[in-house]
Amino acid sequence: MANFTVNGEAFEVDADPNTPLLWIIREHLKITGTKFGCGVGQCGACTVHIDGAATYSCLTPVSAVEGREITTIEGLSADGSHPLQTAWVAEQVPQCGYCQSGQIMRAADLLANNPNPSRAEIIAHMSTNICRCGTYSRIISAIERAAREA
Ligand code: FES
Ligand code: FES
Repeated sequence: MANFTVNGEAFEVDADPNTPLLWIIREHLKITGTKFGCGVGQCGACTVHIDGAATYSCLTPVSAVEGREITTIEGLSADGSHPLQTAWVAEQVPQCGYCQSGQIMRAADLLANNPNPSRAEIIAHMSTNICRCGTYSRIISAIERAAREA
């Protein structure tokens, strides 16, 4: 049994301790905003926050989150009003959308620790997350907007 919270709600899950957190979130809890891309820590589609830090949920065994607080894209704000979410809409960032929840969760970790990042800092921080549709310039613009308007 593993006990942890997701988006403020307590869960107890019966699963093999090596099960990736990504599968626990998606398959056990049916919270599906977090995506499977590569499964090997190279794309960022699976990014969630664990105790506030952006983490690849595909590489995190459920045994590692005992007693910890997990936030997924569904829990970033109650109503989609996080500055990054409104900036994402304003800049019309997504194309297919598949990578975008991971991108936003990664960006949220940046702004939480560095509210006014430089363009170079944004690019460096976001280098963990791939977008096969090539929305990178809009992602950067949206993060800059969110930092301005937060
Ligand atoms: S699915 Fe986790 S990094 Fe790609
Ligand atoms: S919007 Fe399609 S992969 Fe990023």
